[in-house]
Amino acid sequence: MGQTVKPTEDSLSFEMFGIRFKNPVWTASGCFSYGLEVANNLYDISQLGAVVVKGLSYKPRTGNPPQRIVETPCGMLNSIGLQNPGVEYFTKEILPQLKKYDTVIVANIFGEDEEEYIKVAQHLDKEDGVAILELNVSCPNVKKGGIAFGSDPEVLYSLVKRLKETTGKPILVKLSPNITNILDTAQACVEGKADGLVLINTLLGMAIDVEREEPIIGMKTGGLSGPAILPVAVRMVYQVYEKYGTSVPIVGVGGISDYRDALQHILAGAVAVQIGTANFYDPYSPLKVIKGIKEHIERKGYSHYIKMVGKAHKIKVS
Ligand code: FUM
Repeated sequence: MGQTVKPTEDSLSFEMFGIRFKNPVWTASGCFSYGLEVANNLYDISQLGAVVVKGLSYKPRTGNPPQRIVETPCGMLNSIGLQNPGVEYFTKEILPQLKKYDTVIVANIFGEDEEEYIKVAQHLDKEDGVAILELNVSCPNVKKGGIAFGSDPEVLYSLVKRLKETTGKPILVKLSPNITNILDTAQACVEGKADGLVLINTLLGMAIDVEREEPIIGMKTGGLSGPAILPVAVRMVYQVYEKYGTSVPIVGVGGISDYRDALQHILAGAVAVQIGTANFYDPYSPLKVIKGIKEHIERKGYSHYIKMVGKAHKIKVS
């Protein structure tokens, strides 16, 4: 892999941006809250490679009117509207509890305008418990910010560049699939000096209630996630890796339910993966994916999972 990613002592652990991850399996923003419900009731979240927290804005947000979620064939639509208690509440009340766990904390951050993104990043910059910022420029469910930043390469470049000048923390940019060419927005992030990319956020969709004869979601549209989007996500990870190889670390997210789905992302070029929607029907799924990847590499005779990153490409990987 490129210099920012190095395998470490056992077959699943690695270092990226100088941060050690126990394994490449992270939980995705918005699908694991702030990690504490699972930590307090189900299992020790120290087993996870990283926890990516629900999107944080500067001020608290109440989110969108109901209905916010609907199940669809092989997936679900959500339109939460980035409801969150605000970054100050997060750092005062939630982060101290999260820091007790030996996992990497990634803060997904959001702003309605450039200034708000900067304020959130500045606030988190002081917090040693937050290792990485994941820039949310892809939420399809808000009127200002979100996808508005992630669909225009020039706007995106300016935001990433300013944030890189603002914070000492590594920045991963979570990109939207709701664009014509993922390489245009990926390139804007590379030029703005993002440290890596997260591919992909949800696909914009709609479901209609045939009795009421109107959209089910309160905001009419929502973001589609779950197994239905796996092939789209894998394709985008593949495309971006094909262009940048190991020079831009990619975290794959979208449609991962089991270790085989995770391996598709890894073989396409992802150095780590995030489990999202699967948490809603099986909160143990991240642990099952970790176990599945470990057993797979043993069965295939790999010394480290990193040997599989990008293996589905013809280009040579180290
Ligand atoms: O509606 C939401 O809160 C979704 C956020 C996202 O997709 O990033």
